[in-house]
Amino acid sequence: MEVPQHISIIMDGNGRWAKKQGKLRLFGHNAGAESVRACTEYCTEIGVKYLSLFAFSEENWERPAEEVNGLMQLMFKYVIGEHDTFMNNNIRFRVIGNYEHLPEDLMAAVHREEEVTAGNTRMTMILMLSYSGKWDILQAARHYAADCLAAGRQLPLDEAGFSNYLATAGIPDPDLLIRTSGEQRISNYMLWQNAYTEFYYTPVLWPDFRKNDLEQAISDFNNRQRRYGKVE
Ligand code: IPE
Ligand code: IPE
Ligand code: MG
Repeated sequence: MEVPQHISIIMDGNGRWAKKQGKLRLFGHNAGAESVRACTEYCTEIGVKYLSLFAFSEENWERPAEEVNGLMQLMFKYVIGEHDTFMNNNIRFRVIGNYEHLPEDLMAAVHREEEVTAGNTRMTMILMLSYSGKWDILQAARHYAADCLAAGRQLPLDEAGFSNYLATAGIPDPDLLIRTSGEQRISNYMLWQNAYTEFYYTPVLWPDFRKNDLEQAISDFNNRQRRYGKVE
């Protein structure tokens, strides 16, 4: 069986999971952290090199303050609390997104953890926080324009060159994108990077998503024929 080099997950359905039990949405987000742990562990075991998880979108800032604050606290707790997991399993931790919108204490913890795990090589785990695909493309275009201005001329640009301006520079495009909770949309996630990614949708809500669900997604991925527009 082929193990995808880069698996990406749109972790959706926390709110509905909580509602089903008559609980507050934050209860679902808390439970979702356990799924993150399970997936990280399993991906490390089977040899996935990159695991990126969509945890909070630029659009999610529009949610009620109570939920947003609770989520930021949860992220902080996660970054601090997972230190041993990252070190014991040789995992490099990264956060990608619009840092400008993220709280300072969270960013300080993130940078610390990014630094101490920078030399870890088994797998890179990326939390996509305050991320959106259009934001990423726009910030890349702005950086390119700034470089042209600094150089005093229009610099050459091809697809590989543009990828290097994206926030995900250096990370190979996702091979498999999983979305939980039954939604079948991209919700402004890695628009450029998912150009040839295989999509897998499952009705399972994120807090219920476990190793066996991931196994099923990978087995489905193995039945796909990736043609990249060519003829076999
Ligand atoms: C995903 O779960 C987590 C975030 C977007 C932060 P939701 O909070 O979107 O849960 P549903 O979709 O409302 O069930
Ligand atoms: C996408 O889920 C964002 C994350 C999972 C972090 P949403 O719940 O925000 O997406 P929509 O609103 O259903 O498209
Ligand atoms: Mg949702």
